[in-house]
Amino acid sequence: MDVRVVDVRKEFDRFPALHNVSLDINSGELIALLGPSGSGKTTLLRLIAGLETPTQGAVFFGEEDASQKTVQERNVGFVFQHYALFRHMTVLDNVGFGLKVRPSSNRPEKGEIRRRALELLDFVQLGGLEKRYPTQLSGGQRQRVALARAMAIEPRVLLLDEPFGALDAQVRKELRRWLREIHDKTGYTTVFVTHDQDEALELADRVVVMSQGRIEQIGTPDEVYDRPNSPFVYGFIGESSSLPVRMENGAVWSADRNIGLSAGDMPDGEATLFFRPHDVELLESSAGGCIVGTVVASRRAGGTRRVELEIGGGSDRIEIEVPAEHPAADKSSIAFKPRHWKLFPVQG
Ligand SMILES: Nc1ncnc2c1ncn2[C@@H]1O[C@H](COP(=O)(O)OP(=O)(O)O)[C@@H](O)[C@H]1O
Ligand SMILES: [Mg+2]
Repeated sequence: MDVRVVDVRKEFDRFPALHNVSLDINSGELIALLGPSGSGKTTLLRLIAGLETPTQGAVFFGEEDASQKTVQERNVGFVFQHYALFRHMTVLDNVGFGLKVRPSSNRPEKGEIRRRALELLDFVQLGGLEKRYPTQLSGGQRQRVALARAMAIEPRVLLLDEPFGALDAQVRKELRRWLREIHDKTGYTTVFVTHDQDEALELADRVVVMSQGRIEQIGTPDEVYDRPNSPFVYGFIGESSSLPVRMENGAVWSADRNIGLSAGDMPDGEATLFFRPHDVELLESSAGGCIVGTVVASRRAGGTRRVELEIGGGSDRIEIEVPAEHPAADKSSIAFKPRHWKLFPVQG
C-alpha cells in the first residue's frame, strides 16, 4: 500500500512537534525514520497509524484520504519498544488477538485463527513456543511475538517504533538482519523508527532523516551517507569533521591559508567545511594548498589511528584518521587534504 503524508503539521498545545512534513512511501518499501530523541519520529508514526490526528494536512493510504479514519479502519500493524504482550495470554493467543477481537462479520473461525497464528509463529522462528507465556520468553523472542501479532491482521502497513530499542546490542543486530529477511519475504510496506544510524543504514531501502520536527533529507542509505544535504545530516550520519572557513572568489581559506579546494558556486563569506575523518589524503609537504594542523591528541582506534589536530594556532579542532604506523607525535604538524568534502554557507 502506498502511503502519502501531505504537508502534515502537528501541534501539542501550540507546540509544533511536526512542521509541514511531506513523505511518499512506496508500496513494499522499508522506510526508516531516523533522528535524535524529540525530533518527531514517533509523532509521525502515530499520525500514519491514526493514533493522532494532524493539526493540518492529510495522510493518504493509496488514493484514499485516511486522515479521519480510525486505527481499525486503517488496518495497520504495530510494534513498539515497550509494547508489552498480554501477560495472562499464551503466545498463541497473543498472536491471534487482533483477529479474535474483530467484529463477527470479518472474524475468521476459531480453528482458522489458530492455524494462522501457528503459521506465523513458525514464520518468526518460534514454532513450538505457542503454549508459553510472555514471561517465559527472552526479550528478543517477545519482540518476535509482537511482530507476529502485528502481522496476523494482514496489515496494509506495518509500523515499528524502536522495536529493538530495549534489547542488547548483539540481539539487536541479529533481529535487524532477521527483520530485513522477513520484510523481503512478506513485502509489507514498513515504516521503522530508530535513533540508531547503523540500524537505519543497514536495514532500510530509504532513510528519512529528521530533526526538530522537520525532515532534513530523504534518500537511500548511500545517498544520505555520501551526499548529506545539510550540516545536520553530515554530523548525524557517520562521523564527520567540520572546520570554519572563509570563501573568497571560490577559494577556501582557513586561518591565513588557501587550503587548495575550490568551489565556484559558493558566495564569498563565512562557511563550514565538512569531511569524513577517514577520507583524507596525507601530504608530505605543507607548502601550499592543504590543511595543516598541530597534533594535540592521538589514540589508536582498531586498525587506524585517530588524531586530533589544532588548526591555524586557534581554537578550531578537527579529527582525522591516519595509518596506525603513523607516529603522530604530540605537537608535530600534519598536512592533508580531504578527498570528499562539502561546504555549507554560515547562515546570517
Ligand atoms: N502527547 C504529547 N503532548 C505534548 N508533547 C508531545 C506529545 N507527544 C510528543 N510531544 C513532543 O513532541 C516532540 C516530538 O516527540 P516524539 O515524536 O516523541 O519524538 P521522537 O520519537 O523523535 O523522540 C517532543 O518535543 C515531544 O516532547
Ligand atoms: Mg519516539
